[in-house]
Amino acid sequence: MQEIILVGCGGCMREIAWQIEEQKKEEDGWNIIGYVDRIPPEGNQEILVGKRKIPYLGNDDFLLQKSEKTNVAICVGEPSLRKKIADKLKKNVFLCFPNLILGNNKICEDVKMGQGCIISMDARISTNVTLGDFVFLNTGSMVCHDGTLGDFVTLSPRATLAGNVQIGNCSEIGMGTNVRQGISIGENTIVGAGSVIVKDIEGNVTVAGVPAKKIRG
Ligand SMILES: CC(C)(COP(=O)(O)OP(=O)(O)OC[C@H]1O[C@@H](n2cnc3c(N)ncnc32)[C@H](O)[C@@H]1OP(=O)(O)O)[C@@H](O)C(=O)NCCC(=O)NCCS
Repeated sequence: MQEIILVGCGGCMREIAWQIEEQKKEEDGWNIIGYVDRIPPEGNQEILVGKRKIPYLGNDDFLLQKSEKTNVAICVGEPSLRKKIADKLKKNVFLCFPNLILGNNKICEDVKMGQGCIISMDARISTNVTLGDFVFLNTGSMVCHDGTLGDFVTLSPRATLAGNVQIGNCSEIGMGTNVRQGISIGENTIVGAGSVIVKDIEGNVTVAGVPAKKIRG
């Protein structure tokens, strides 16, 4: 079983840790060594996930000083923060960012994926989909045929992209959102929870609602 260090100490990290532990019960998955964060949760450095205690290993310097191959998963849902952490950690060539394919999902064998992606439990990825680096598909999200997701895109729980949807780097799609086929969403865009996207969306905006309208940017 390969070892991995998680980055982050919030709910996102705890959910991913739980899914890694669940996967281990069924198949040969990942062994979590501990977690790294800028500041550990006050007064309680060890994090309890189910029955598993995850030790605190230190801040980013712990990883930046590594001089042997070390697997790392950046467990941060917010795209711009995930990018900031990845840009810093990628400076150490000993750090590897494997794609974490967690339990009970279905991924077509022709899907292309960069590095550092996290595909959560119950996600679905259909045929001829391309994911960039550090894409995070949360539980129950779905990417239908011919989709393209840029680097650091986050799909929140149960977000659904119909066929041939394109999403730019660092954009985040809220939970339960549905995106109509053929739509393009620009970079650094936030789509609110429960939205329905029926028109292309420019970059650097926040949209929400049914149908989604611009609320910021
Ligand atoms: C869209 C979002 C980012 C906006 O957050 P915000 O910038 O703090 O905006 P506010 O809460 O101040 O809301 C601004 C306006 O947009 C409306 N709005 C906010 N979120 C909305 C949503 N999801 N759908 C419809 N309208 C929404 C608010 O009602 C408010 O309207 P008003 O000005 O008429 O009162 C946030 O509400 C959201 O939906 N985030 C996604 C949450 C999610 O999926 N999390 C996943 C965790 S795993």
